[in-house]
Amino acid sequence: MQSERDAKDRQLDEHRVPLDDHTMTTDQGIPVDDTDNSLKAGTRGPTLMEDFHFREKITRFDHERIPERVVHARGSGAYGIFELYEPLGEYTCAEFLNDTSARTPTFVRFSTVAGFRGSADTVRDVRGFATKFYTSQGNFDIVGNNIPVFFIQDGIKFPDFVHAVKPEPHWEIPQAQSAHDTFWDFIQLQPESLHMVMWVMSDRAIPRSYRMMQGFGVHTFRLVNAQGQGTFVKWHWRPKLGTYSLVWDEVLRIQGNDPDFNRRDLWEAIERGAYPEYELCVQLVPESREHDFDFDLLDPTKIIPEEQVPLRPIGKMTLTRNPQNFHAETEQVAFHTANVVPGIDFTNDPLLQARNFSYLDTQLLRLGGPNFTQIPINRPIAPVRNDQRDGFHQHLIHESRTSYAPNSISGGCPAARDGYRHYQEKVEGTKIRRRSPSFENHYSQATLFWNSMADWEKRHIVAAFLFELGHVERPPIKQAMVAHLGRIHPDLGAAVAQGLGLPAPGGGQVHSRTSPALSMTGQPRSVATR
Ligand code: HEM
Repeated sequence: MQSERDAKDRQLDEHRVPLDDHTMTTDQGIPVDDTDNSLKAGTRGPTLMEDFHFREKITRFDHERIPERVVHARGSGAYGIFELYEPLGEYTCAEFLNDTSARTPTFVRFSTVAGFRGSADTVRDVRGFATKFYTSQGNFDIVGNNIPVFFIQDGIKFPDFVHAVKPEPHWEIPQAQSAHDTFWDFIQLQPESLHMVMWVMSDRAIPRSYRMMQGFGVHTFRLVNAQGQGTFVKWHWRPKLGTYSLVWDEVLRIQGNDPDFNRRDLWEAIERGAYPEYELCVQLVPESREHDFDFDLLDPTKIIPEEQVPLRPIGKMTLTRNPQNFHAETEQVAFHTANVVPGIDFTNDPLLQARNFSYLDTQLLRLGGPNFTQIPINRPIAPVRNDQRDGFHQHLIHESRTSYAPNSISGGCPAARDGYRHYQEKVEGTKIRRRSPSFENHYSQATLFWNSMADWEKRHIVAAFLFELGHVERPPIKQAMVAHLGRIHPDLGAAVAQGLGLPAPGGGQVHSRTSPALSMTGQPRSVATR
């Protein structure tokens, strides 16, 4: 598969620096005669400012760093190919979801969320699973995580949430006791986070390998067909190898022995030809069924249980190629939830809408202005033509003499026609700044998650809570969390209370009721590696 070169790989050739010429030059192309000794007056200095090679070399070094991502700073990337199983014209007019002969190039970046760029891979954390599809109609991104729900319902809470997760501002010690207090303080005051917290305390938050990890678009998106009819869609990636986790004891040992455990595993597997494969599955909900659920489809703290809407596999992505340069490709790639192609649209999920603002905004800073879409990894393979111009680092030389529309002067002026049509979404209500009452239930799916776990998985979850809350200094935060856990399930609340030496929530006794198992994933459960 590696020998078959795809359109993105061929496009990157235009930007690759050949290995065959060994003459060192400056950035101006001037041959360099000595790169080991700066130009000096006499044998013992001083160094002369006229040594332009010395000045350029030091200046370039001084400017090597760009800001790391504000979240998801630690990541690993790979190129792949997406192949469609069956045309989906009934639901979407997206070309790459209709043409089964198309081999759509992709770039994936897996990441942790909270840690810095140089932090360890195998921490208890959410993992990012972001995929860029270089389609014939432009770039489409699924910017997902390995957990199908999120901590908050409204993006305006994202800065608060991230500030509670990140090290405290005064000393930036990530594992400080008091940093546990800030996270759990936020959670105890923000019960909409509880469903996600259950996933994060489970073994899902310590995946064994990026090759064995699911991905979820989280939000409900929308597919739109050629007739303009919409269908709600949830995106799921399912690894062909199955879903596997580490266990906590392994995590502690691996972190010391090999902090790059997941990154190395991905790289080495691709190098030896063990290409990771993921099926893309969808849950499709007709618009007529929008209100058939006991939760709101627009609430990103909820899953659609597979018992209610089964997963439908629609295609497969195979990761076949490692990047050649970490900075140029993995660090400079820019994913964005608003990168959609015709046939794919948004919903009014308030978290999604905040993301549709946030990614471009942060990338303008992180990647130095509006021309970052011209960076090779971000360039679409579809042609790009518009009247946007100038800005820092403009690489294109537009030949048109005008850059405005409408325009009767310049024959080559690009016309807006037959393009992306926004879905005609209905708008309800007249009140502003109001959270829908349909977003108020914070416990039922957390309970569903607990009930779906095997006994040993429940033991791991309790142990994770004991470890985490055991590091919290302030008793009222622990007590409040135990009360929430008791509302999720009395067994959970009682077990955690007992372990922390606190009274059981509500004075309740330990329940021994076994719960019916619910497959939320259609995948083998997380299992320990040994
Ligand atoms: C980065 C996922 C919520 C802001 C990322 C990345 C992923 C991701 C996978 C890493 C992208 C990469 O590899 O380059 C998610 C998911 C969310 C979520 C699944 C919820 C469902 C939010 C929200 C905001 C936000 C609510 C802000 C309102 C950001 C920012 C970055 C980021 C600023 C850094 C982007 C960059 O510098 O390129 N997110 N995120 N995210 N996310 Fe989110």
